[in-house]
Amino acid sequence: MKYQLQRLVIFIGVVFLFYCILLFTNSINAPRIVFKQQHKISSFEGFNNETGAGKLIVPNIVHFIRFNKPNFSFVDAVIVLAAFKNQNPDKIMFHANDVNFIGPHWDKIKSTPGLVYEIVKTAIPDDIFGQKFNEGWKLWHAGDVTRIRILMKYGGIFLDNDSYIVKSLDRFRKYEIAIGWDENQCIGTQVIVANKDARFLPLWLESYRVYHADKWYYNAGCKPTEEILYKTPELVHRVKLLFGVHMLVHNLYKSYWKDWRKQYAIHLLINHRSYLDEEHLDKWPVFTEKNIVYYNYTFGTMAREAYGISQNR
Ligand SMILES: *[C@@H]1O[C@H](CO)[C@@H](O)[C@H](O)[C@H]1NC(C)=O
Ligand SMILES: *[C@@H]1O[C@H](CO)[C@@H](O)[C@H](O)[C@H]1NC(C)=O
Ligand SMILES: *[C@@H]1O[C@H](CO)[C@@H](O)[C@H](O)[C@H]1NC(C)=O
Ligand SMILES: *[C@@H]1O[C@H](CO)[C@@H](O)[C@H](O)[C@H]1NC(C)=O
Repeated sequence: MKYQLQRLVIFIGVVFLFYCILLFTNSINAPRIVFKQQHKISSFEGFNNETGAGKLIVPNIVHFIRFNKPNFSFVDAVIVLAAFKNQNPDKIMFHANDVNFIGPHWDKIKSTPGLVYEIVKTAIPDDIFGQKFNEGWKLWHAGDVTRIRILMKYGGIFLDNDSYIVKSLDRFRKYEIAIGWDENQCIGTQVIVANKDARFLPLWLESYRVYHADKWYYNAGCKPTEEILYKTPELVHRVKLLFGVHMLVHNLYKSYWKDWRKQYAIHLLINHRSYLDEEHLDKWPVFTEKNIVYYNYTFGTMAREAYGISQNR
């Protein structure tokens, strides 16, 4: 009887110890387990969009899309080099239909020490869920959909070809998804930091079941804001102003904005200068590595710094 009791006590003790060990190792491994299970949609259930995860959960990959653009302009290169210098990504991925990149600025990117890149051949989709893209806007609307798919496949940092990274976005890499969303505005899709299993991504893609071909930015930005985020804002980490997806034409091309370095990113709206910066088009129709030396507005400093051009005036 006495021995039986002793054995029972020892048995319970051993079980308890075992249980403690299990609990302990589990708590150590917990974050990694969550990370490994990222393919399961449910893994972000209840995720805190303000505190984020206790660790980085977004891979340090920068993604660009280049449809029908094998040649790089000077500004294209400025953007790639700013991403390289200021984010220090493990890899830059170019998703392009024409993968035979050419031109002096591509040569510069390619030969930048430490810059790791991968070119992924990616067809331009013709339609979304059977609905043909607006023919005139096809490259952009197809790009809007493709960026969602890229993020769902790899996760990472998606940048428009005129989104300039000012400083490291690492502090946003602990969130399921971080996106520029200013007060009373639609989300800005020009800078997105996302885990591939972010719950918002498939919902956003699904919202294209009804595609409004006649509206430039409705499906890309406003529809998901109105239909998804008004109801469930906790799906994203909302970044106001600091991703620079608001109207900054005056700050970039008409003045010197001394606070530009306080931004994390700045969307240059470079292809919209034709109507937003008409007064300077005669003198500055395009920016090149030569004329940028004399350009004294904010963008001049930004471009020279990223490309490595000194202002020897
Ligand atoms: C590529 O772009 C560069 C500069 O933007 C230009 O000088 C060059 O002529 C272009 N090359 C081709 C093949 O279009
Ligand atoms: C900019 O990005 C869009 C996709 O969003 C793409 O279709 C277009 O070719 C790009 N433009 C340049 C100059 O790379
Ligand atoms: C987080 O989600 C709440 C809704 O639960 C929302 O009100 C808040 O603005 C979100 N915070 C950020 C930083 O996105
Ligand atoms: C830039 O230079 C022009 C003259 O070339 C001058 O009129 C203008 O005030 C300067 N702008 C700034 C922001 O320094």
